[in-house]
Amino acid sequence: MVEEILRWVRKGLDVCVAFYGHPGVFVTPSHEALRRARKEGFQATMLPAVSAEDCLFADLGIDPGERGSQSYEATSFLLHRPTFDRAVPLVLWQVSVVGQPGGATEPNRAGLLELAGYLERFYGPDHEVVLYVASPYPVGEPSVERIRLHDLALARVTAMSTLYVPPTGSLSWDQDTAGRLGIAADAGY
Ligand SMILES: C[S@@+](CC[C@H](N)C(=O)[O-])C[C@H]1O[C@@H](n2cnc3c(N)ncnc32)[C@H](O)[C@@H]1O
Repeated sequence: MVEEILRWVRKGLDVCVAFYGHPGVFVTPSHEALRRARKEGFQATMLPAVSAEDCLFADLGIDPGERGSQSYEATSFLLHRPTFDRAVPLVLWQVSVVGQPGGATEPNRAGLLELAGYLERFYGPDHEVVLYVASPYPVGEPSVERIRLHDLALARVTAMSTLYVPPTGSLSWDQDTAGRLGIAADAGY
């Protein structure tokens, strides 16, 4: 894909490449094509657009300003085990192919089972999660399927599904810092 883009750039044409959603969110070729084009002396720019996560915030009514937001590629999340906070909303991308490198047409049930098992350690098996698919049409409704974490491996997951794990418990509060800054516990942070 990158070579195909650059082939036209090198011919001296004004090239516009469209990716769905935000062109720079979970899209390796866009970043790579820009990097290489610039290295070869061409002017190249990425314009932002609406990502699946932006749609999720709107459709599920989540404001990352309230508790923050954690967002990971599902396989990377399982393999790297980043420190995350279960009191903060968690978004996991590419869940249908979790644990399965390369293109796949069917959901990877073994990977989903692994993911569910890992998340259950933090949230418990009964925690309600959302399999979310934004509508591709301006007038259509999104698909919002609420399931128990324990049922994730058998759920209807598509290549477009993003997993939203709602927060549980309270955010931590550092009283020393709050004291130094003069911020009261009920100040709204
Ligand atoms: C290769 S990424 C592309 C993301 C895209 N560039 C964006 O900005 O939304 C594919 C992943 O994005 C998410 N995704 C794509 N379309 C979606 C949709 N309609 N609803 C929810 N998530 C979607 C899924 O997690 C899917 O596995």
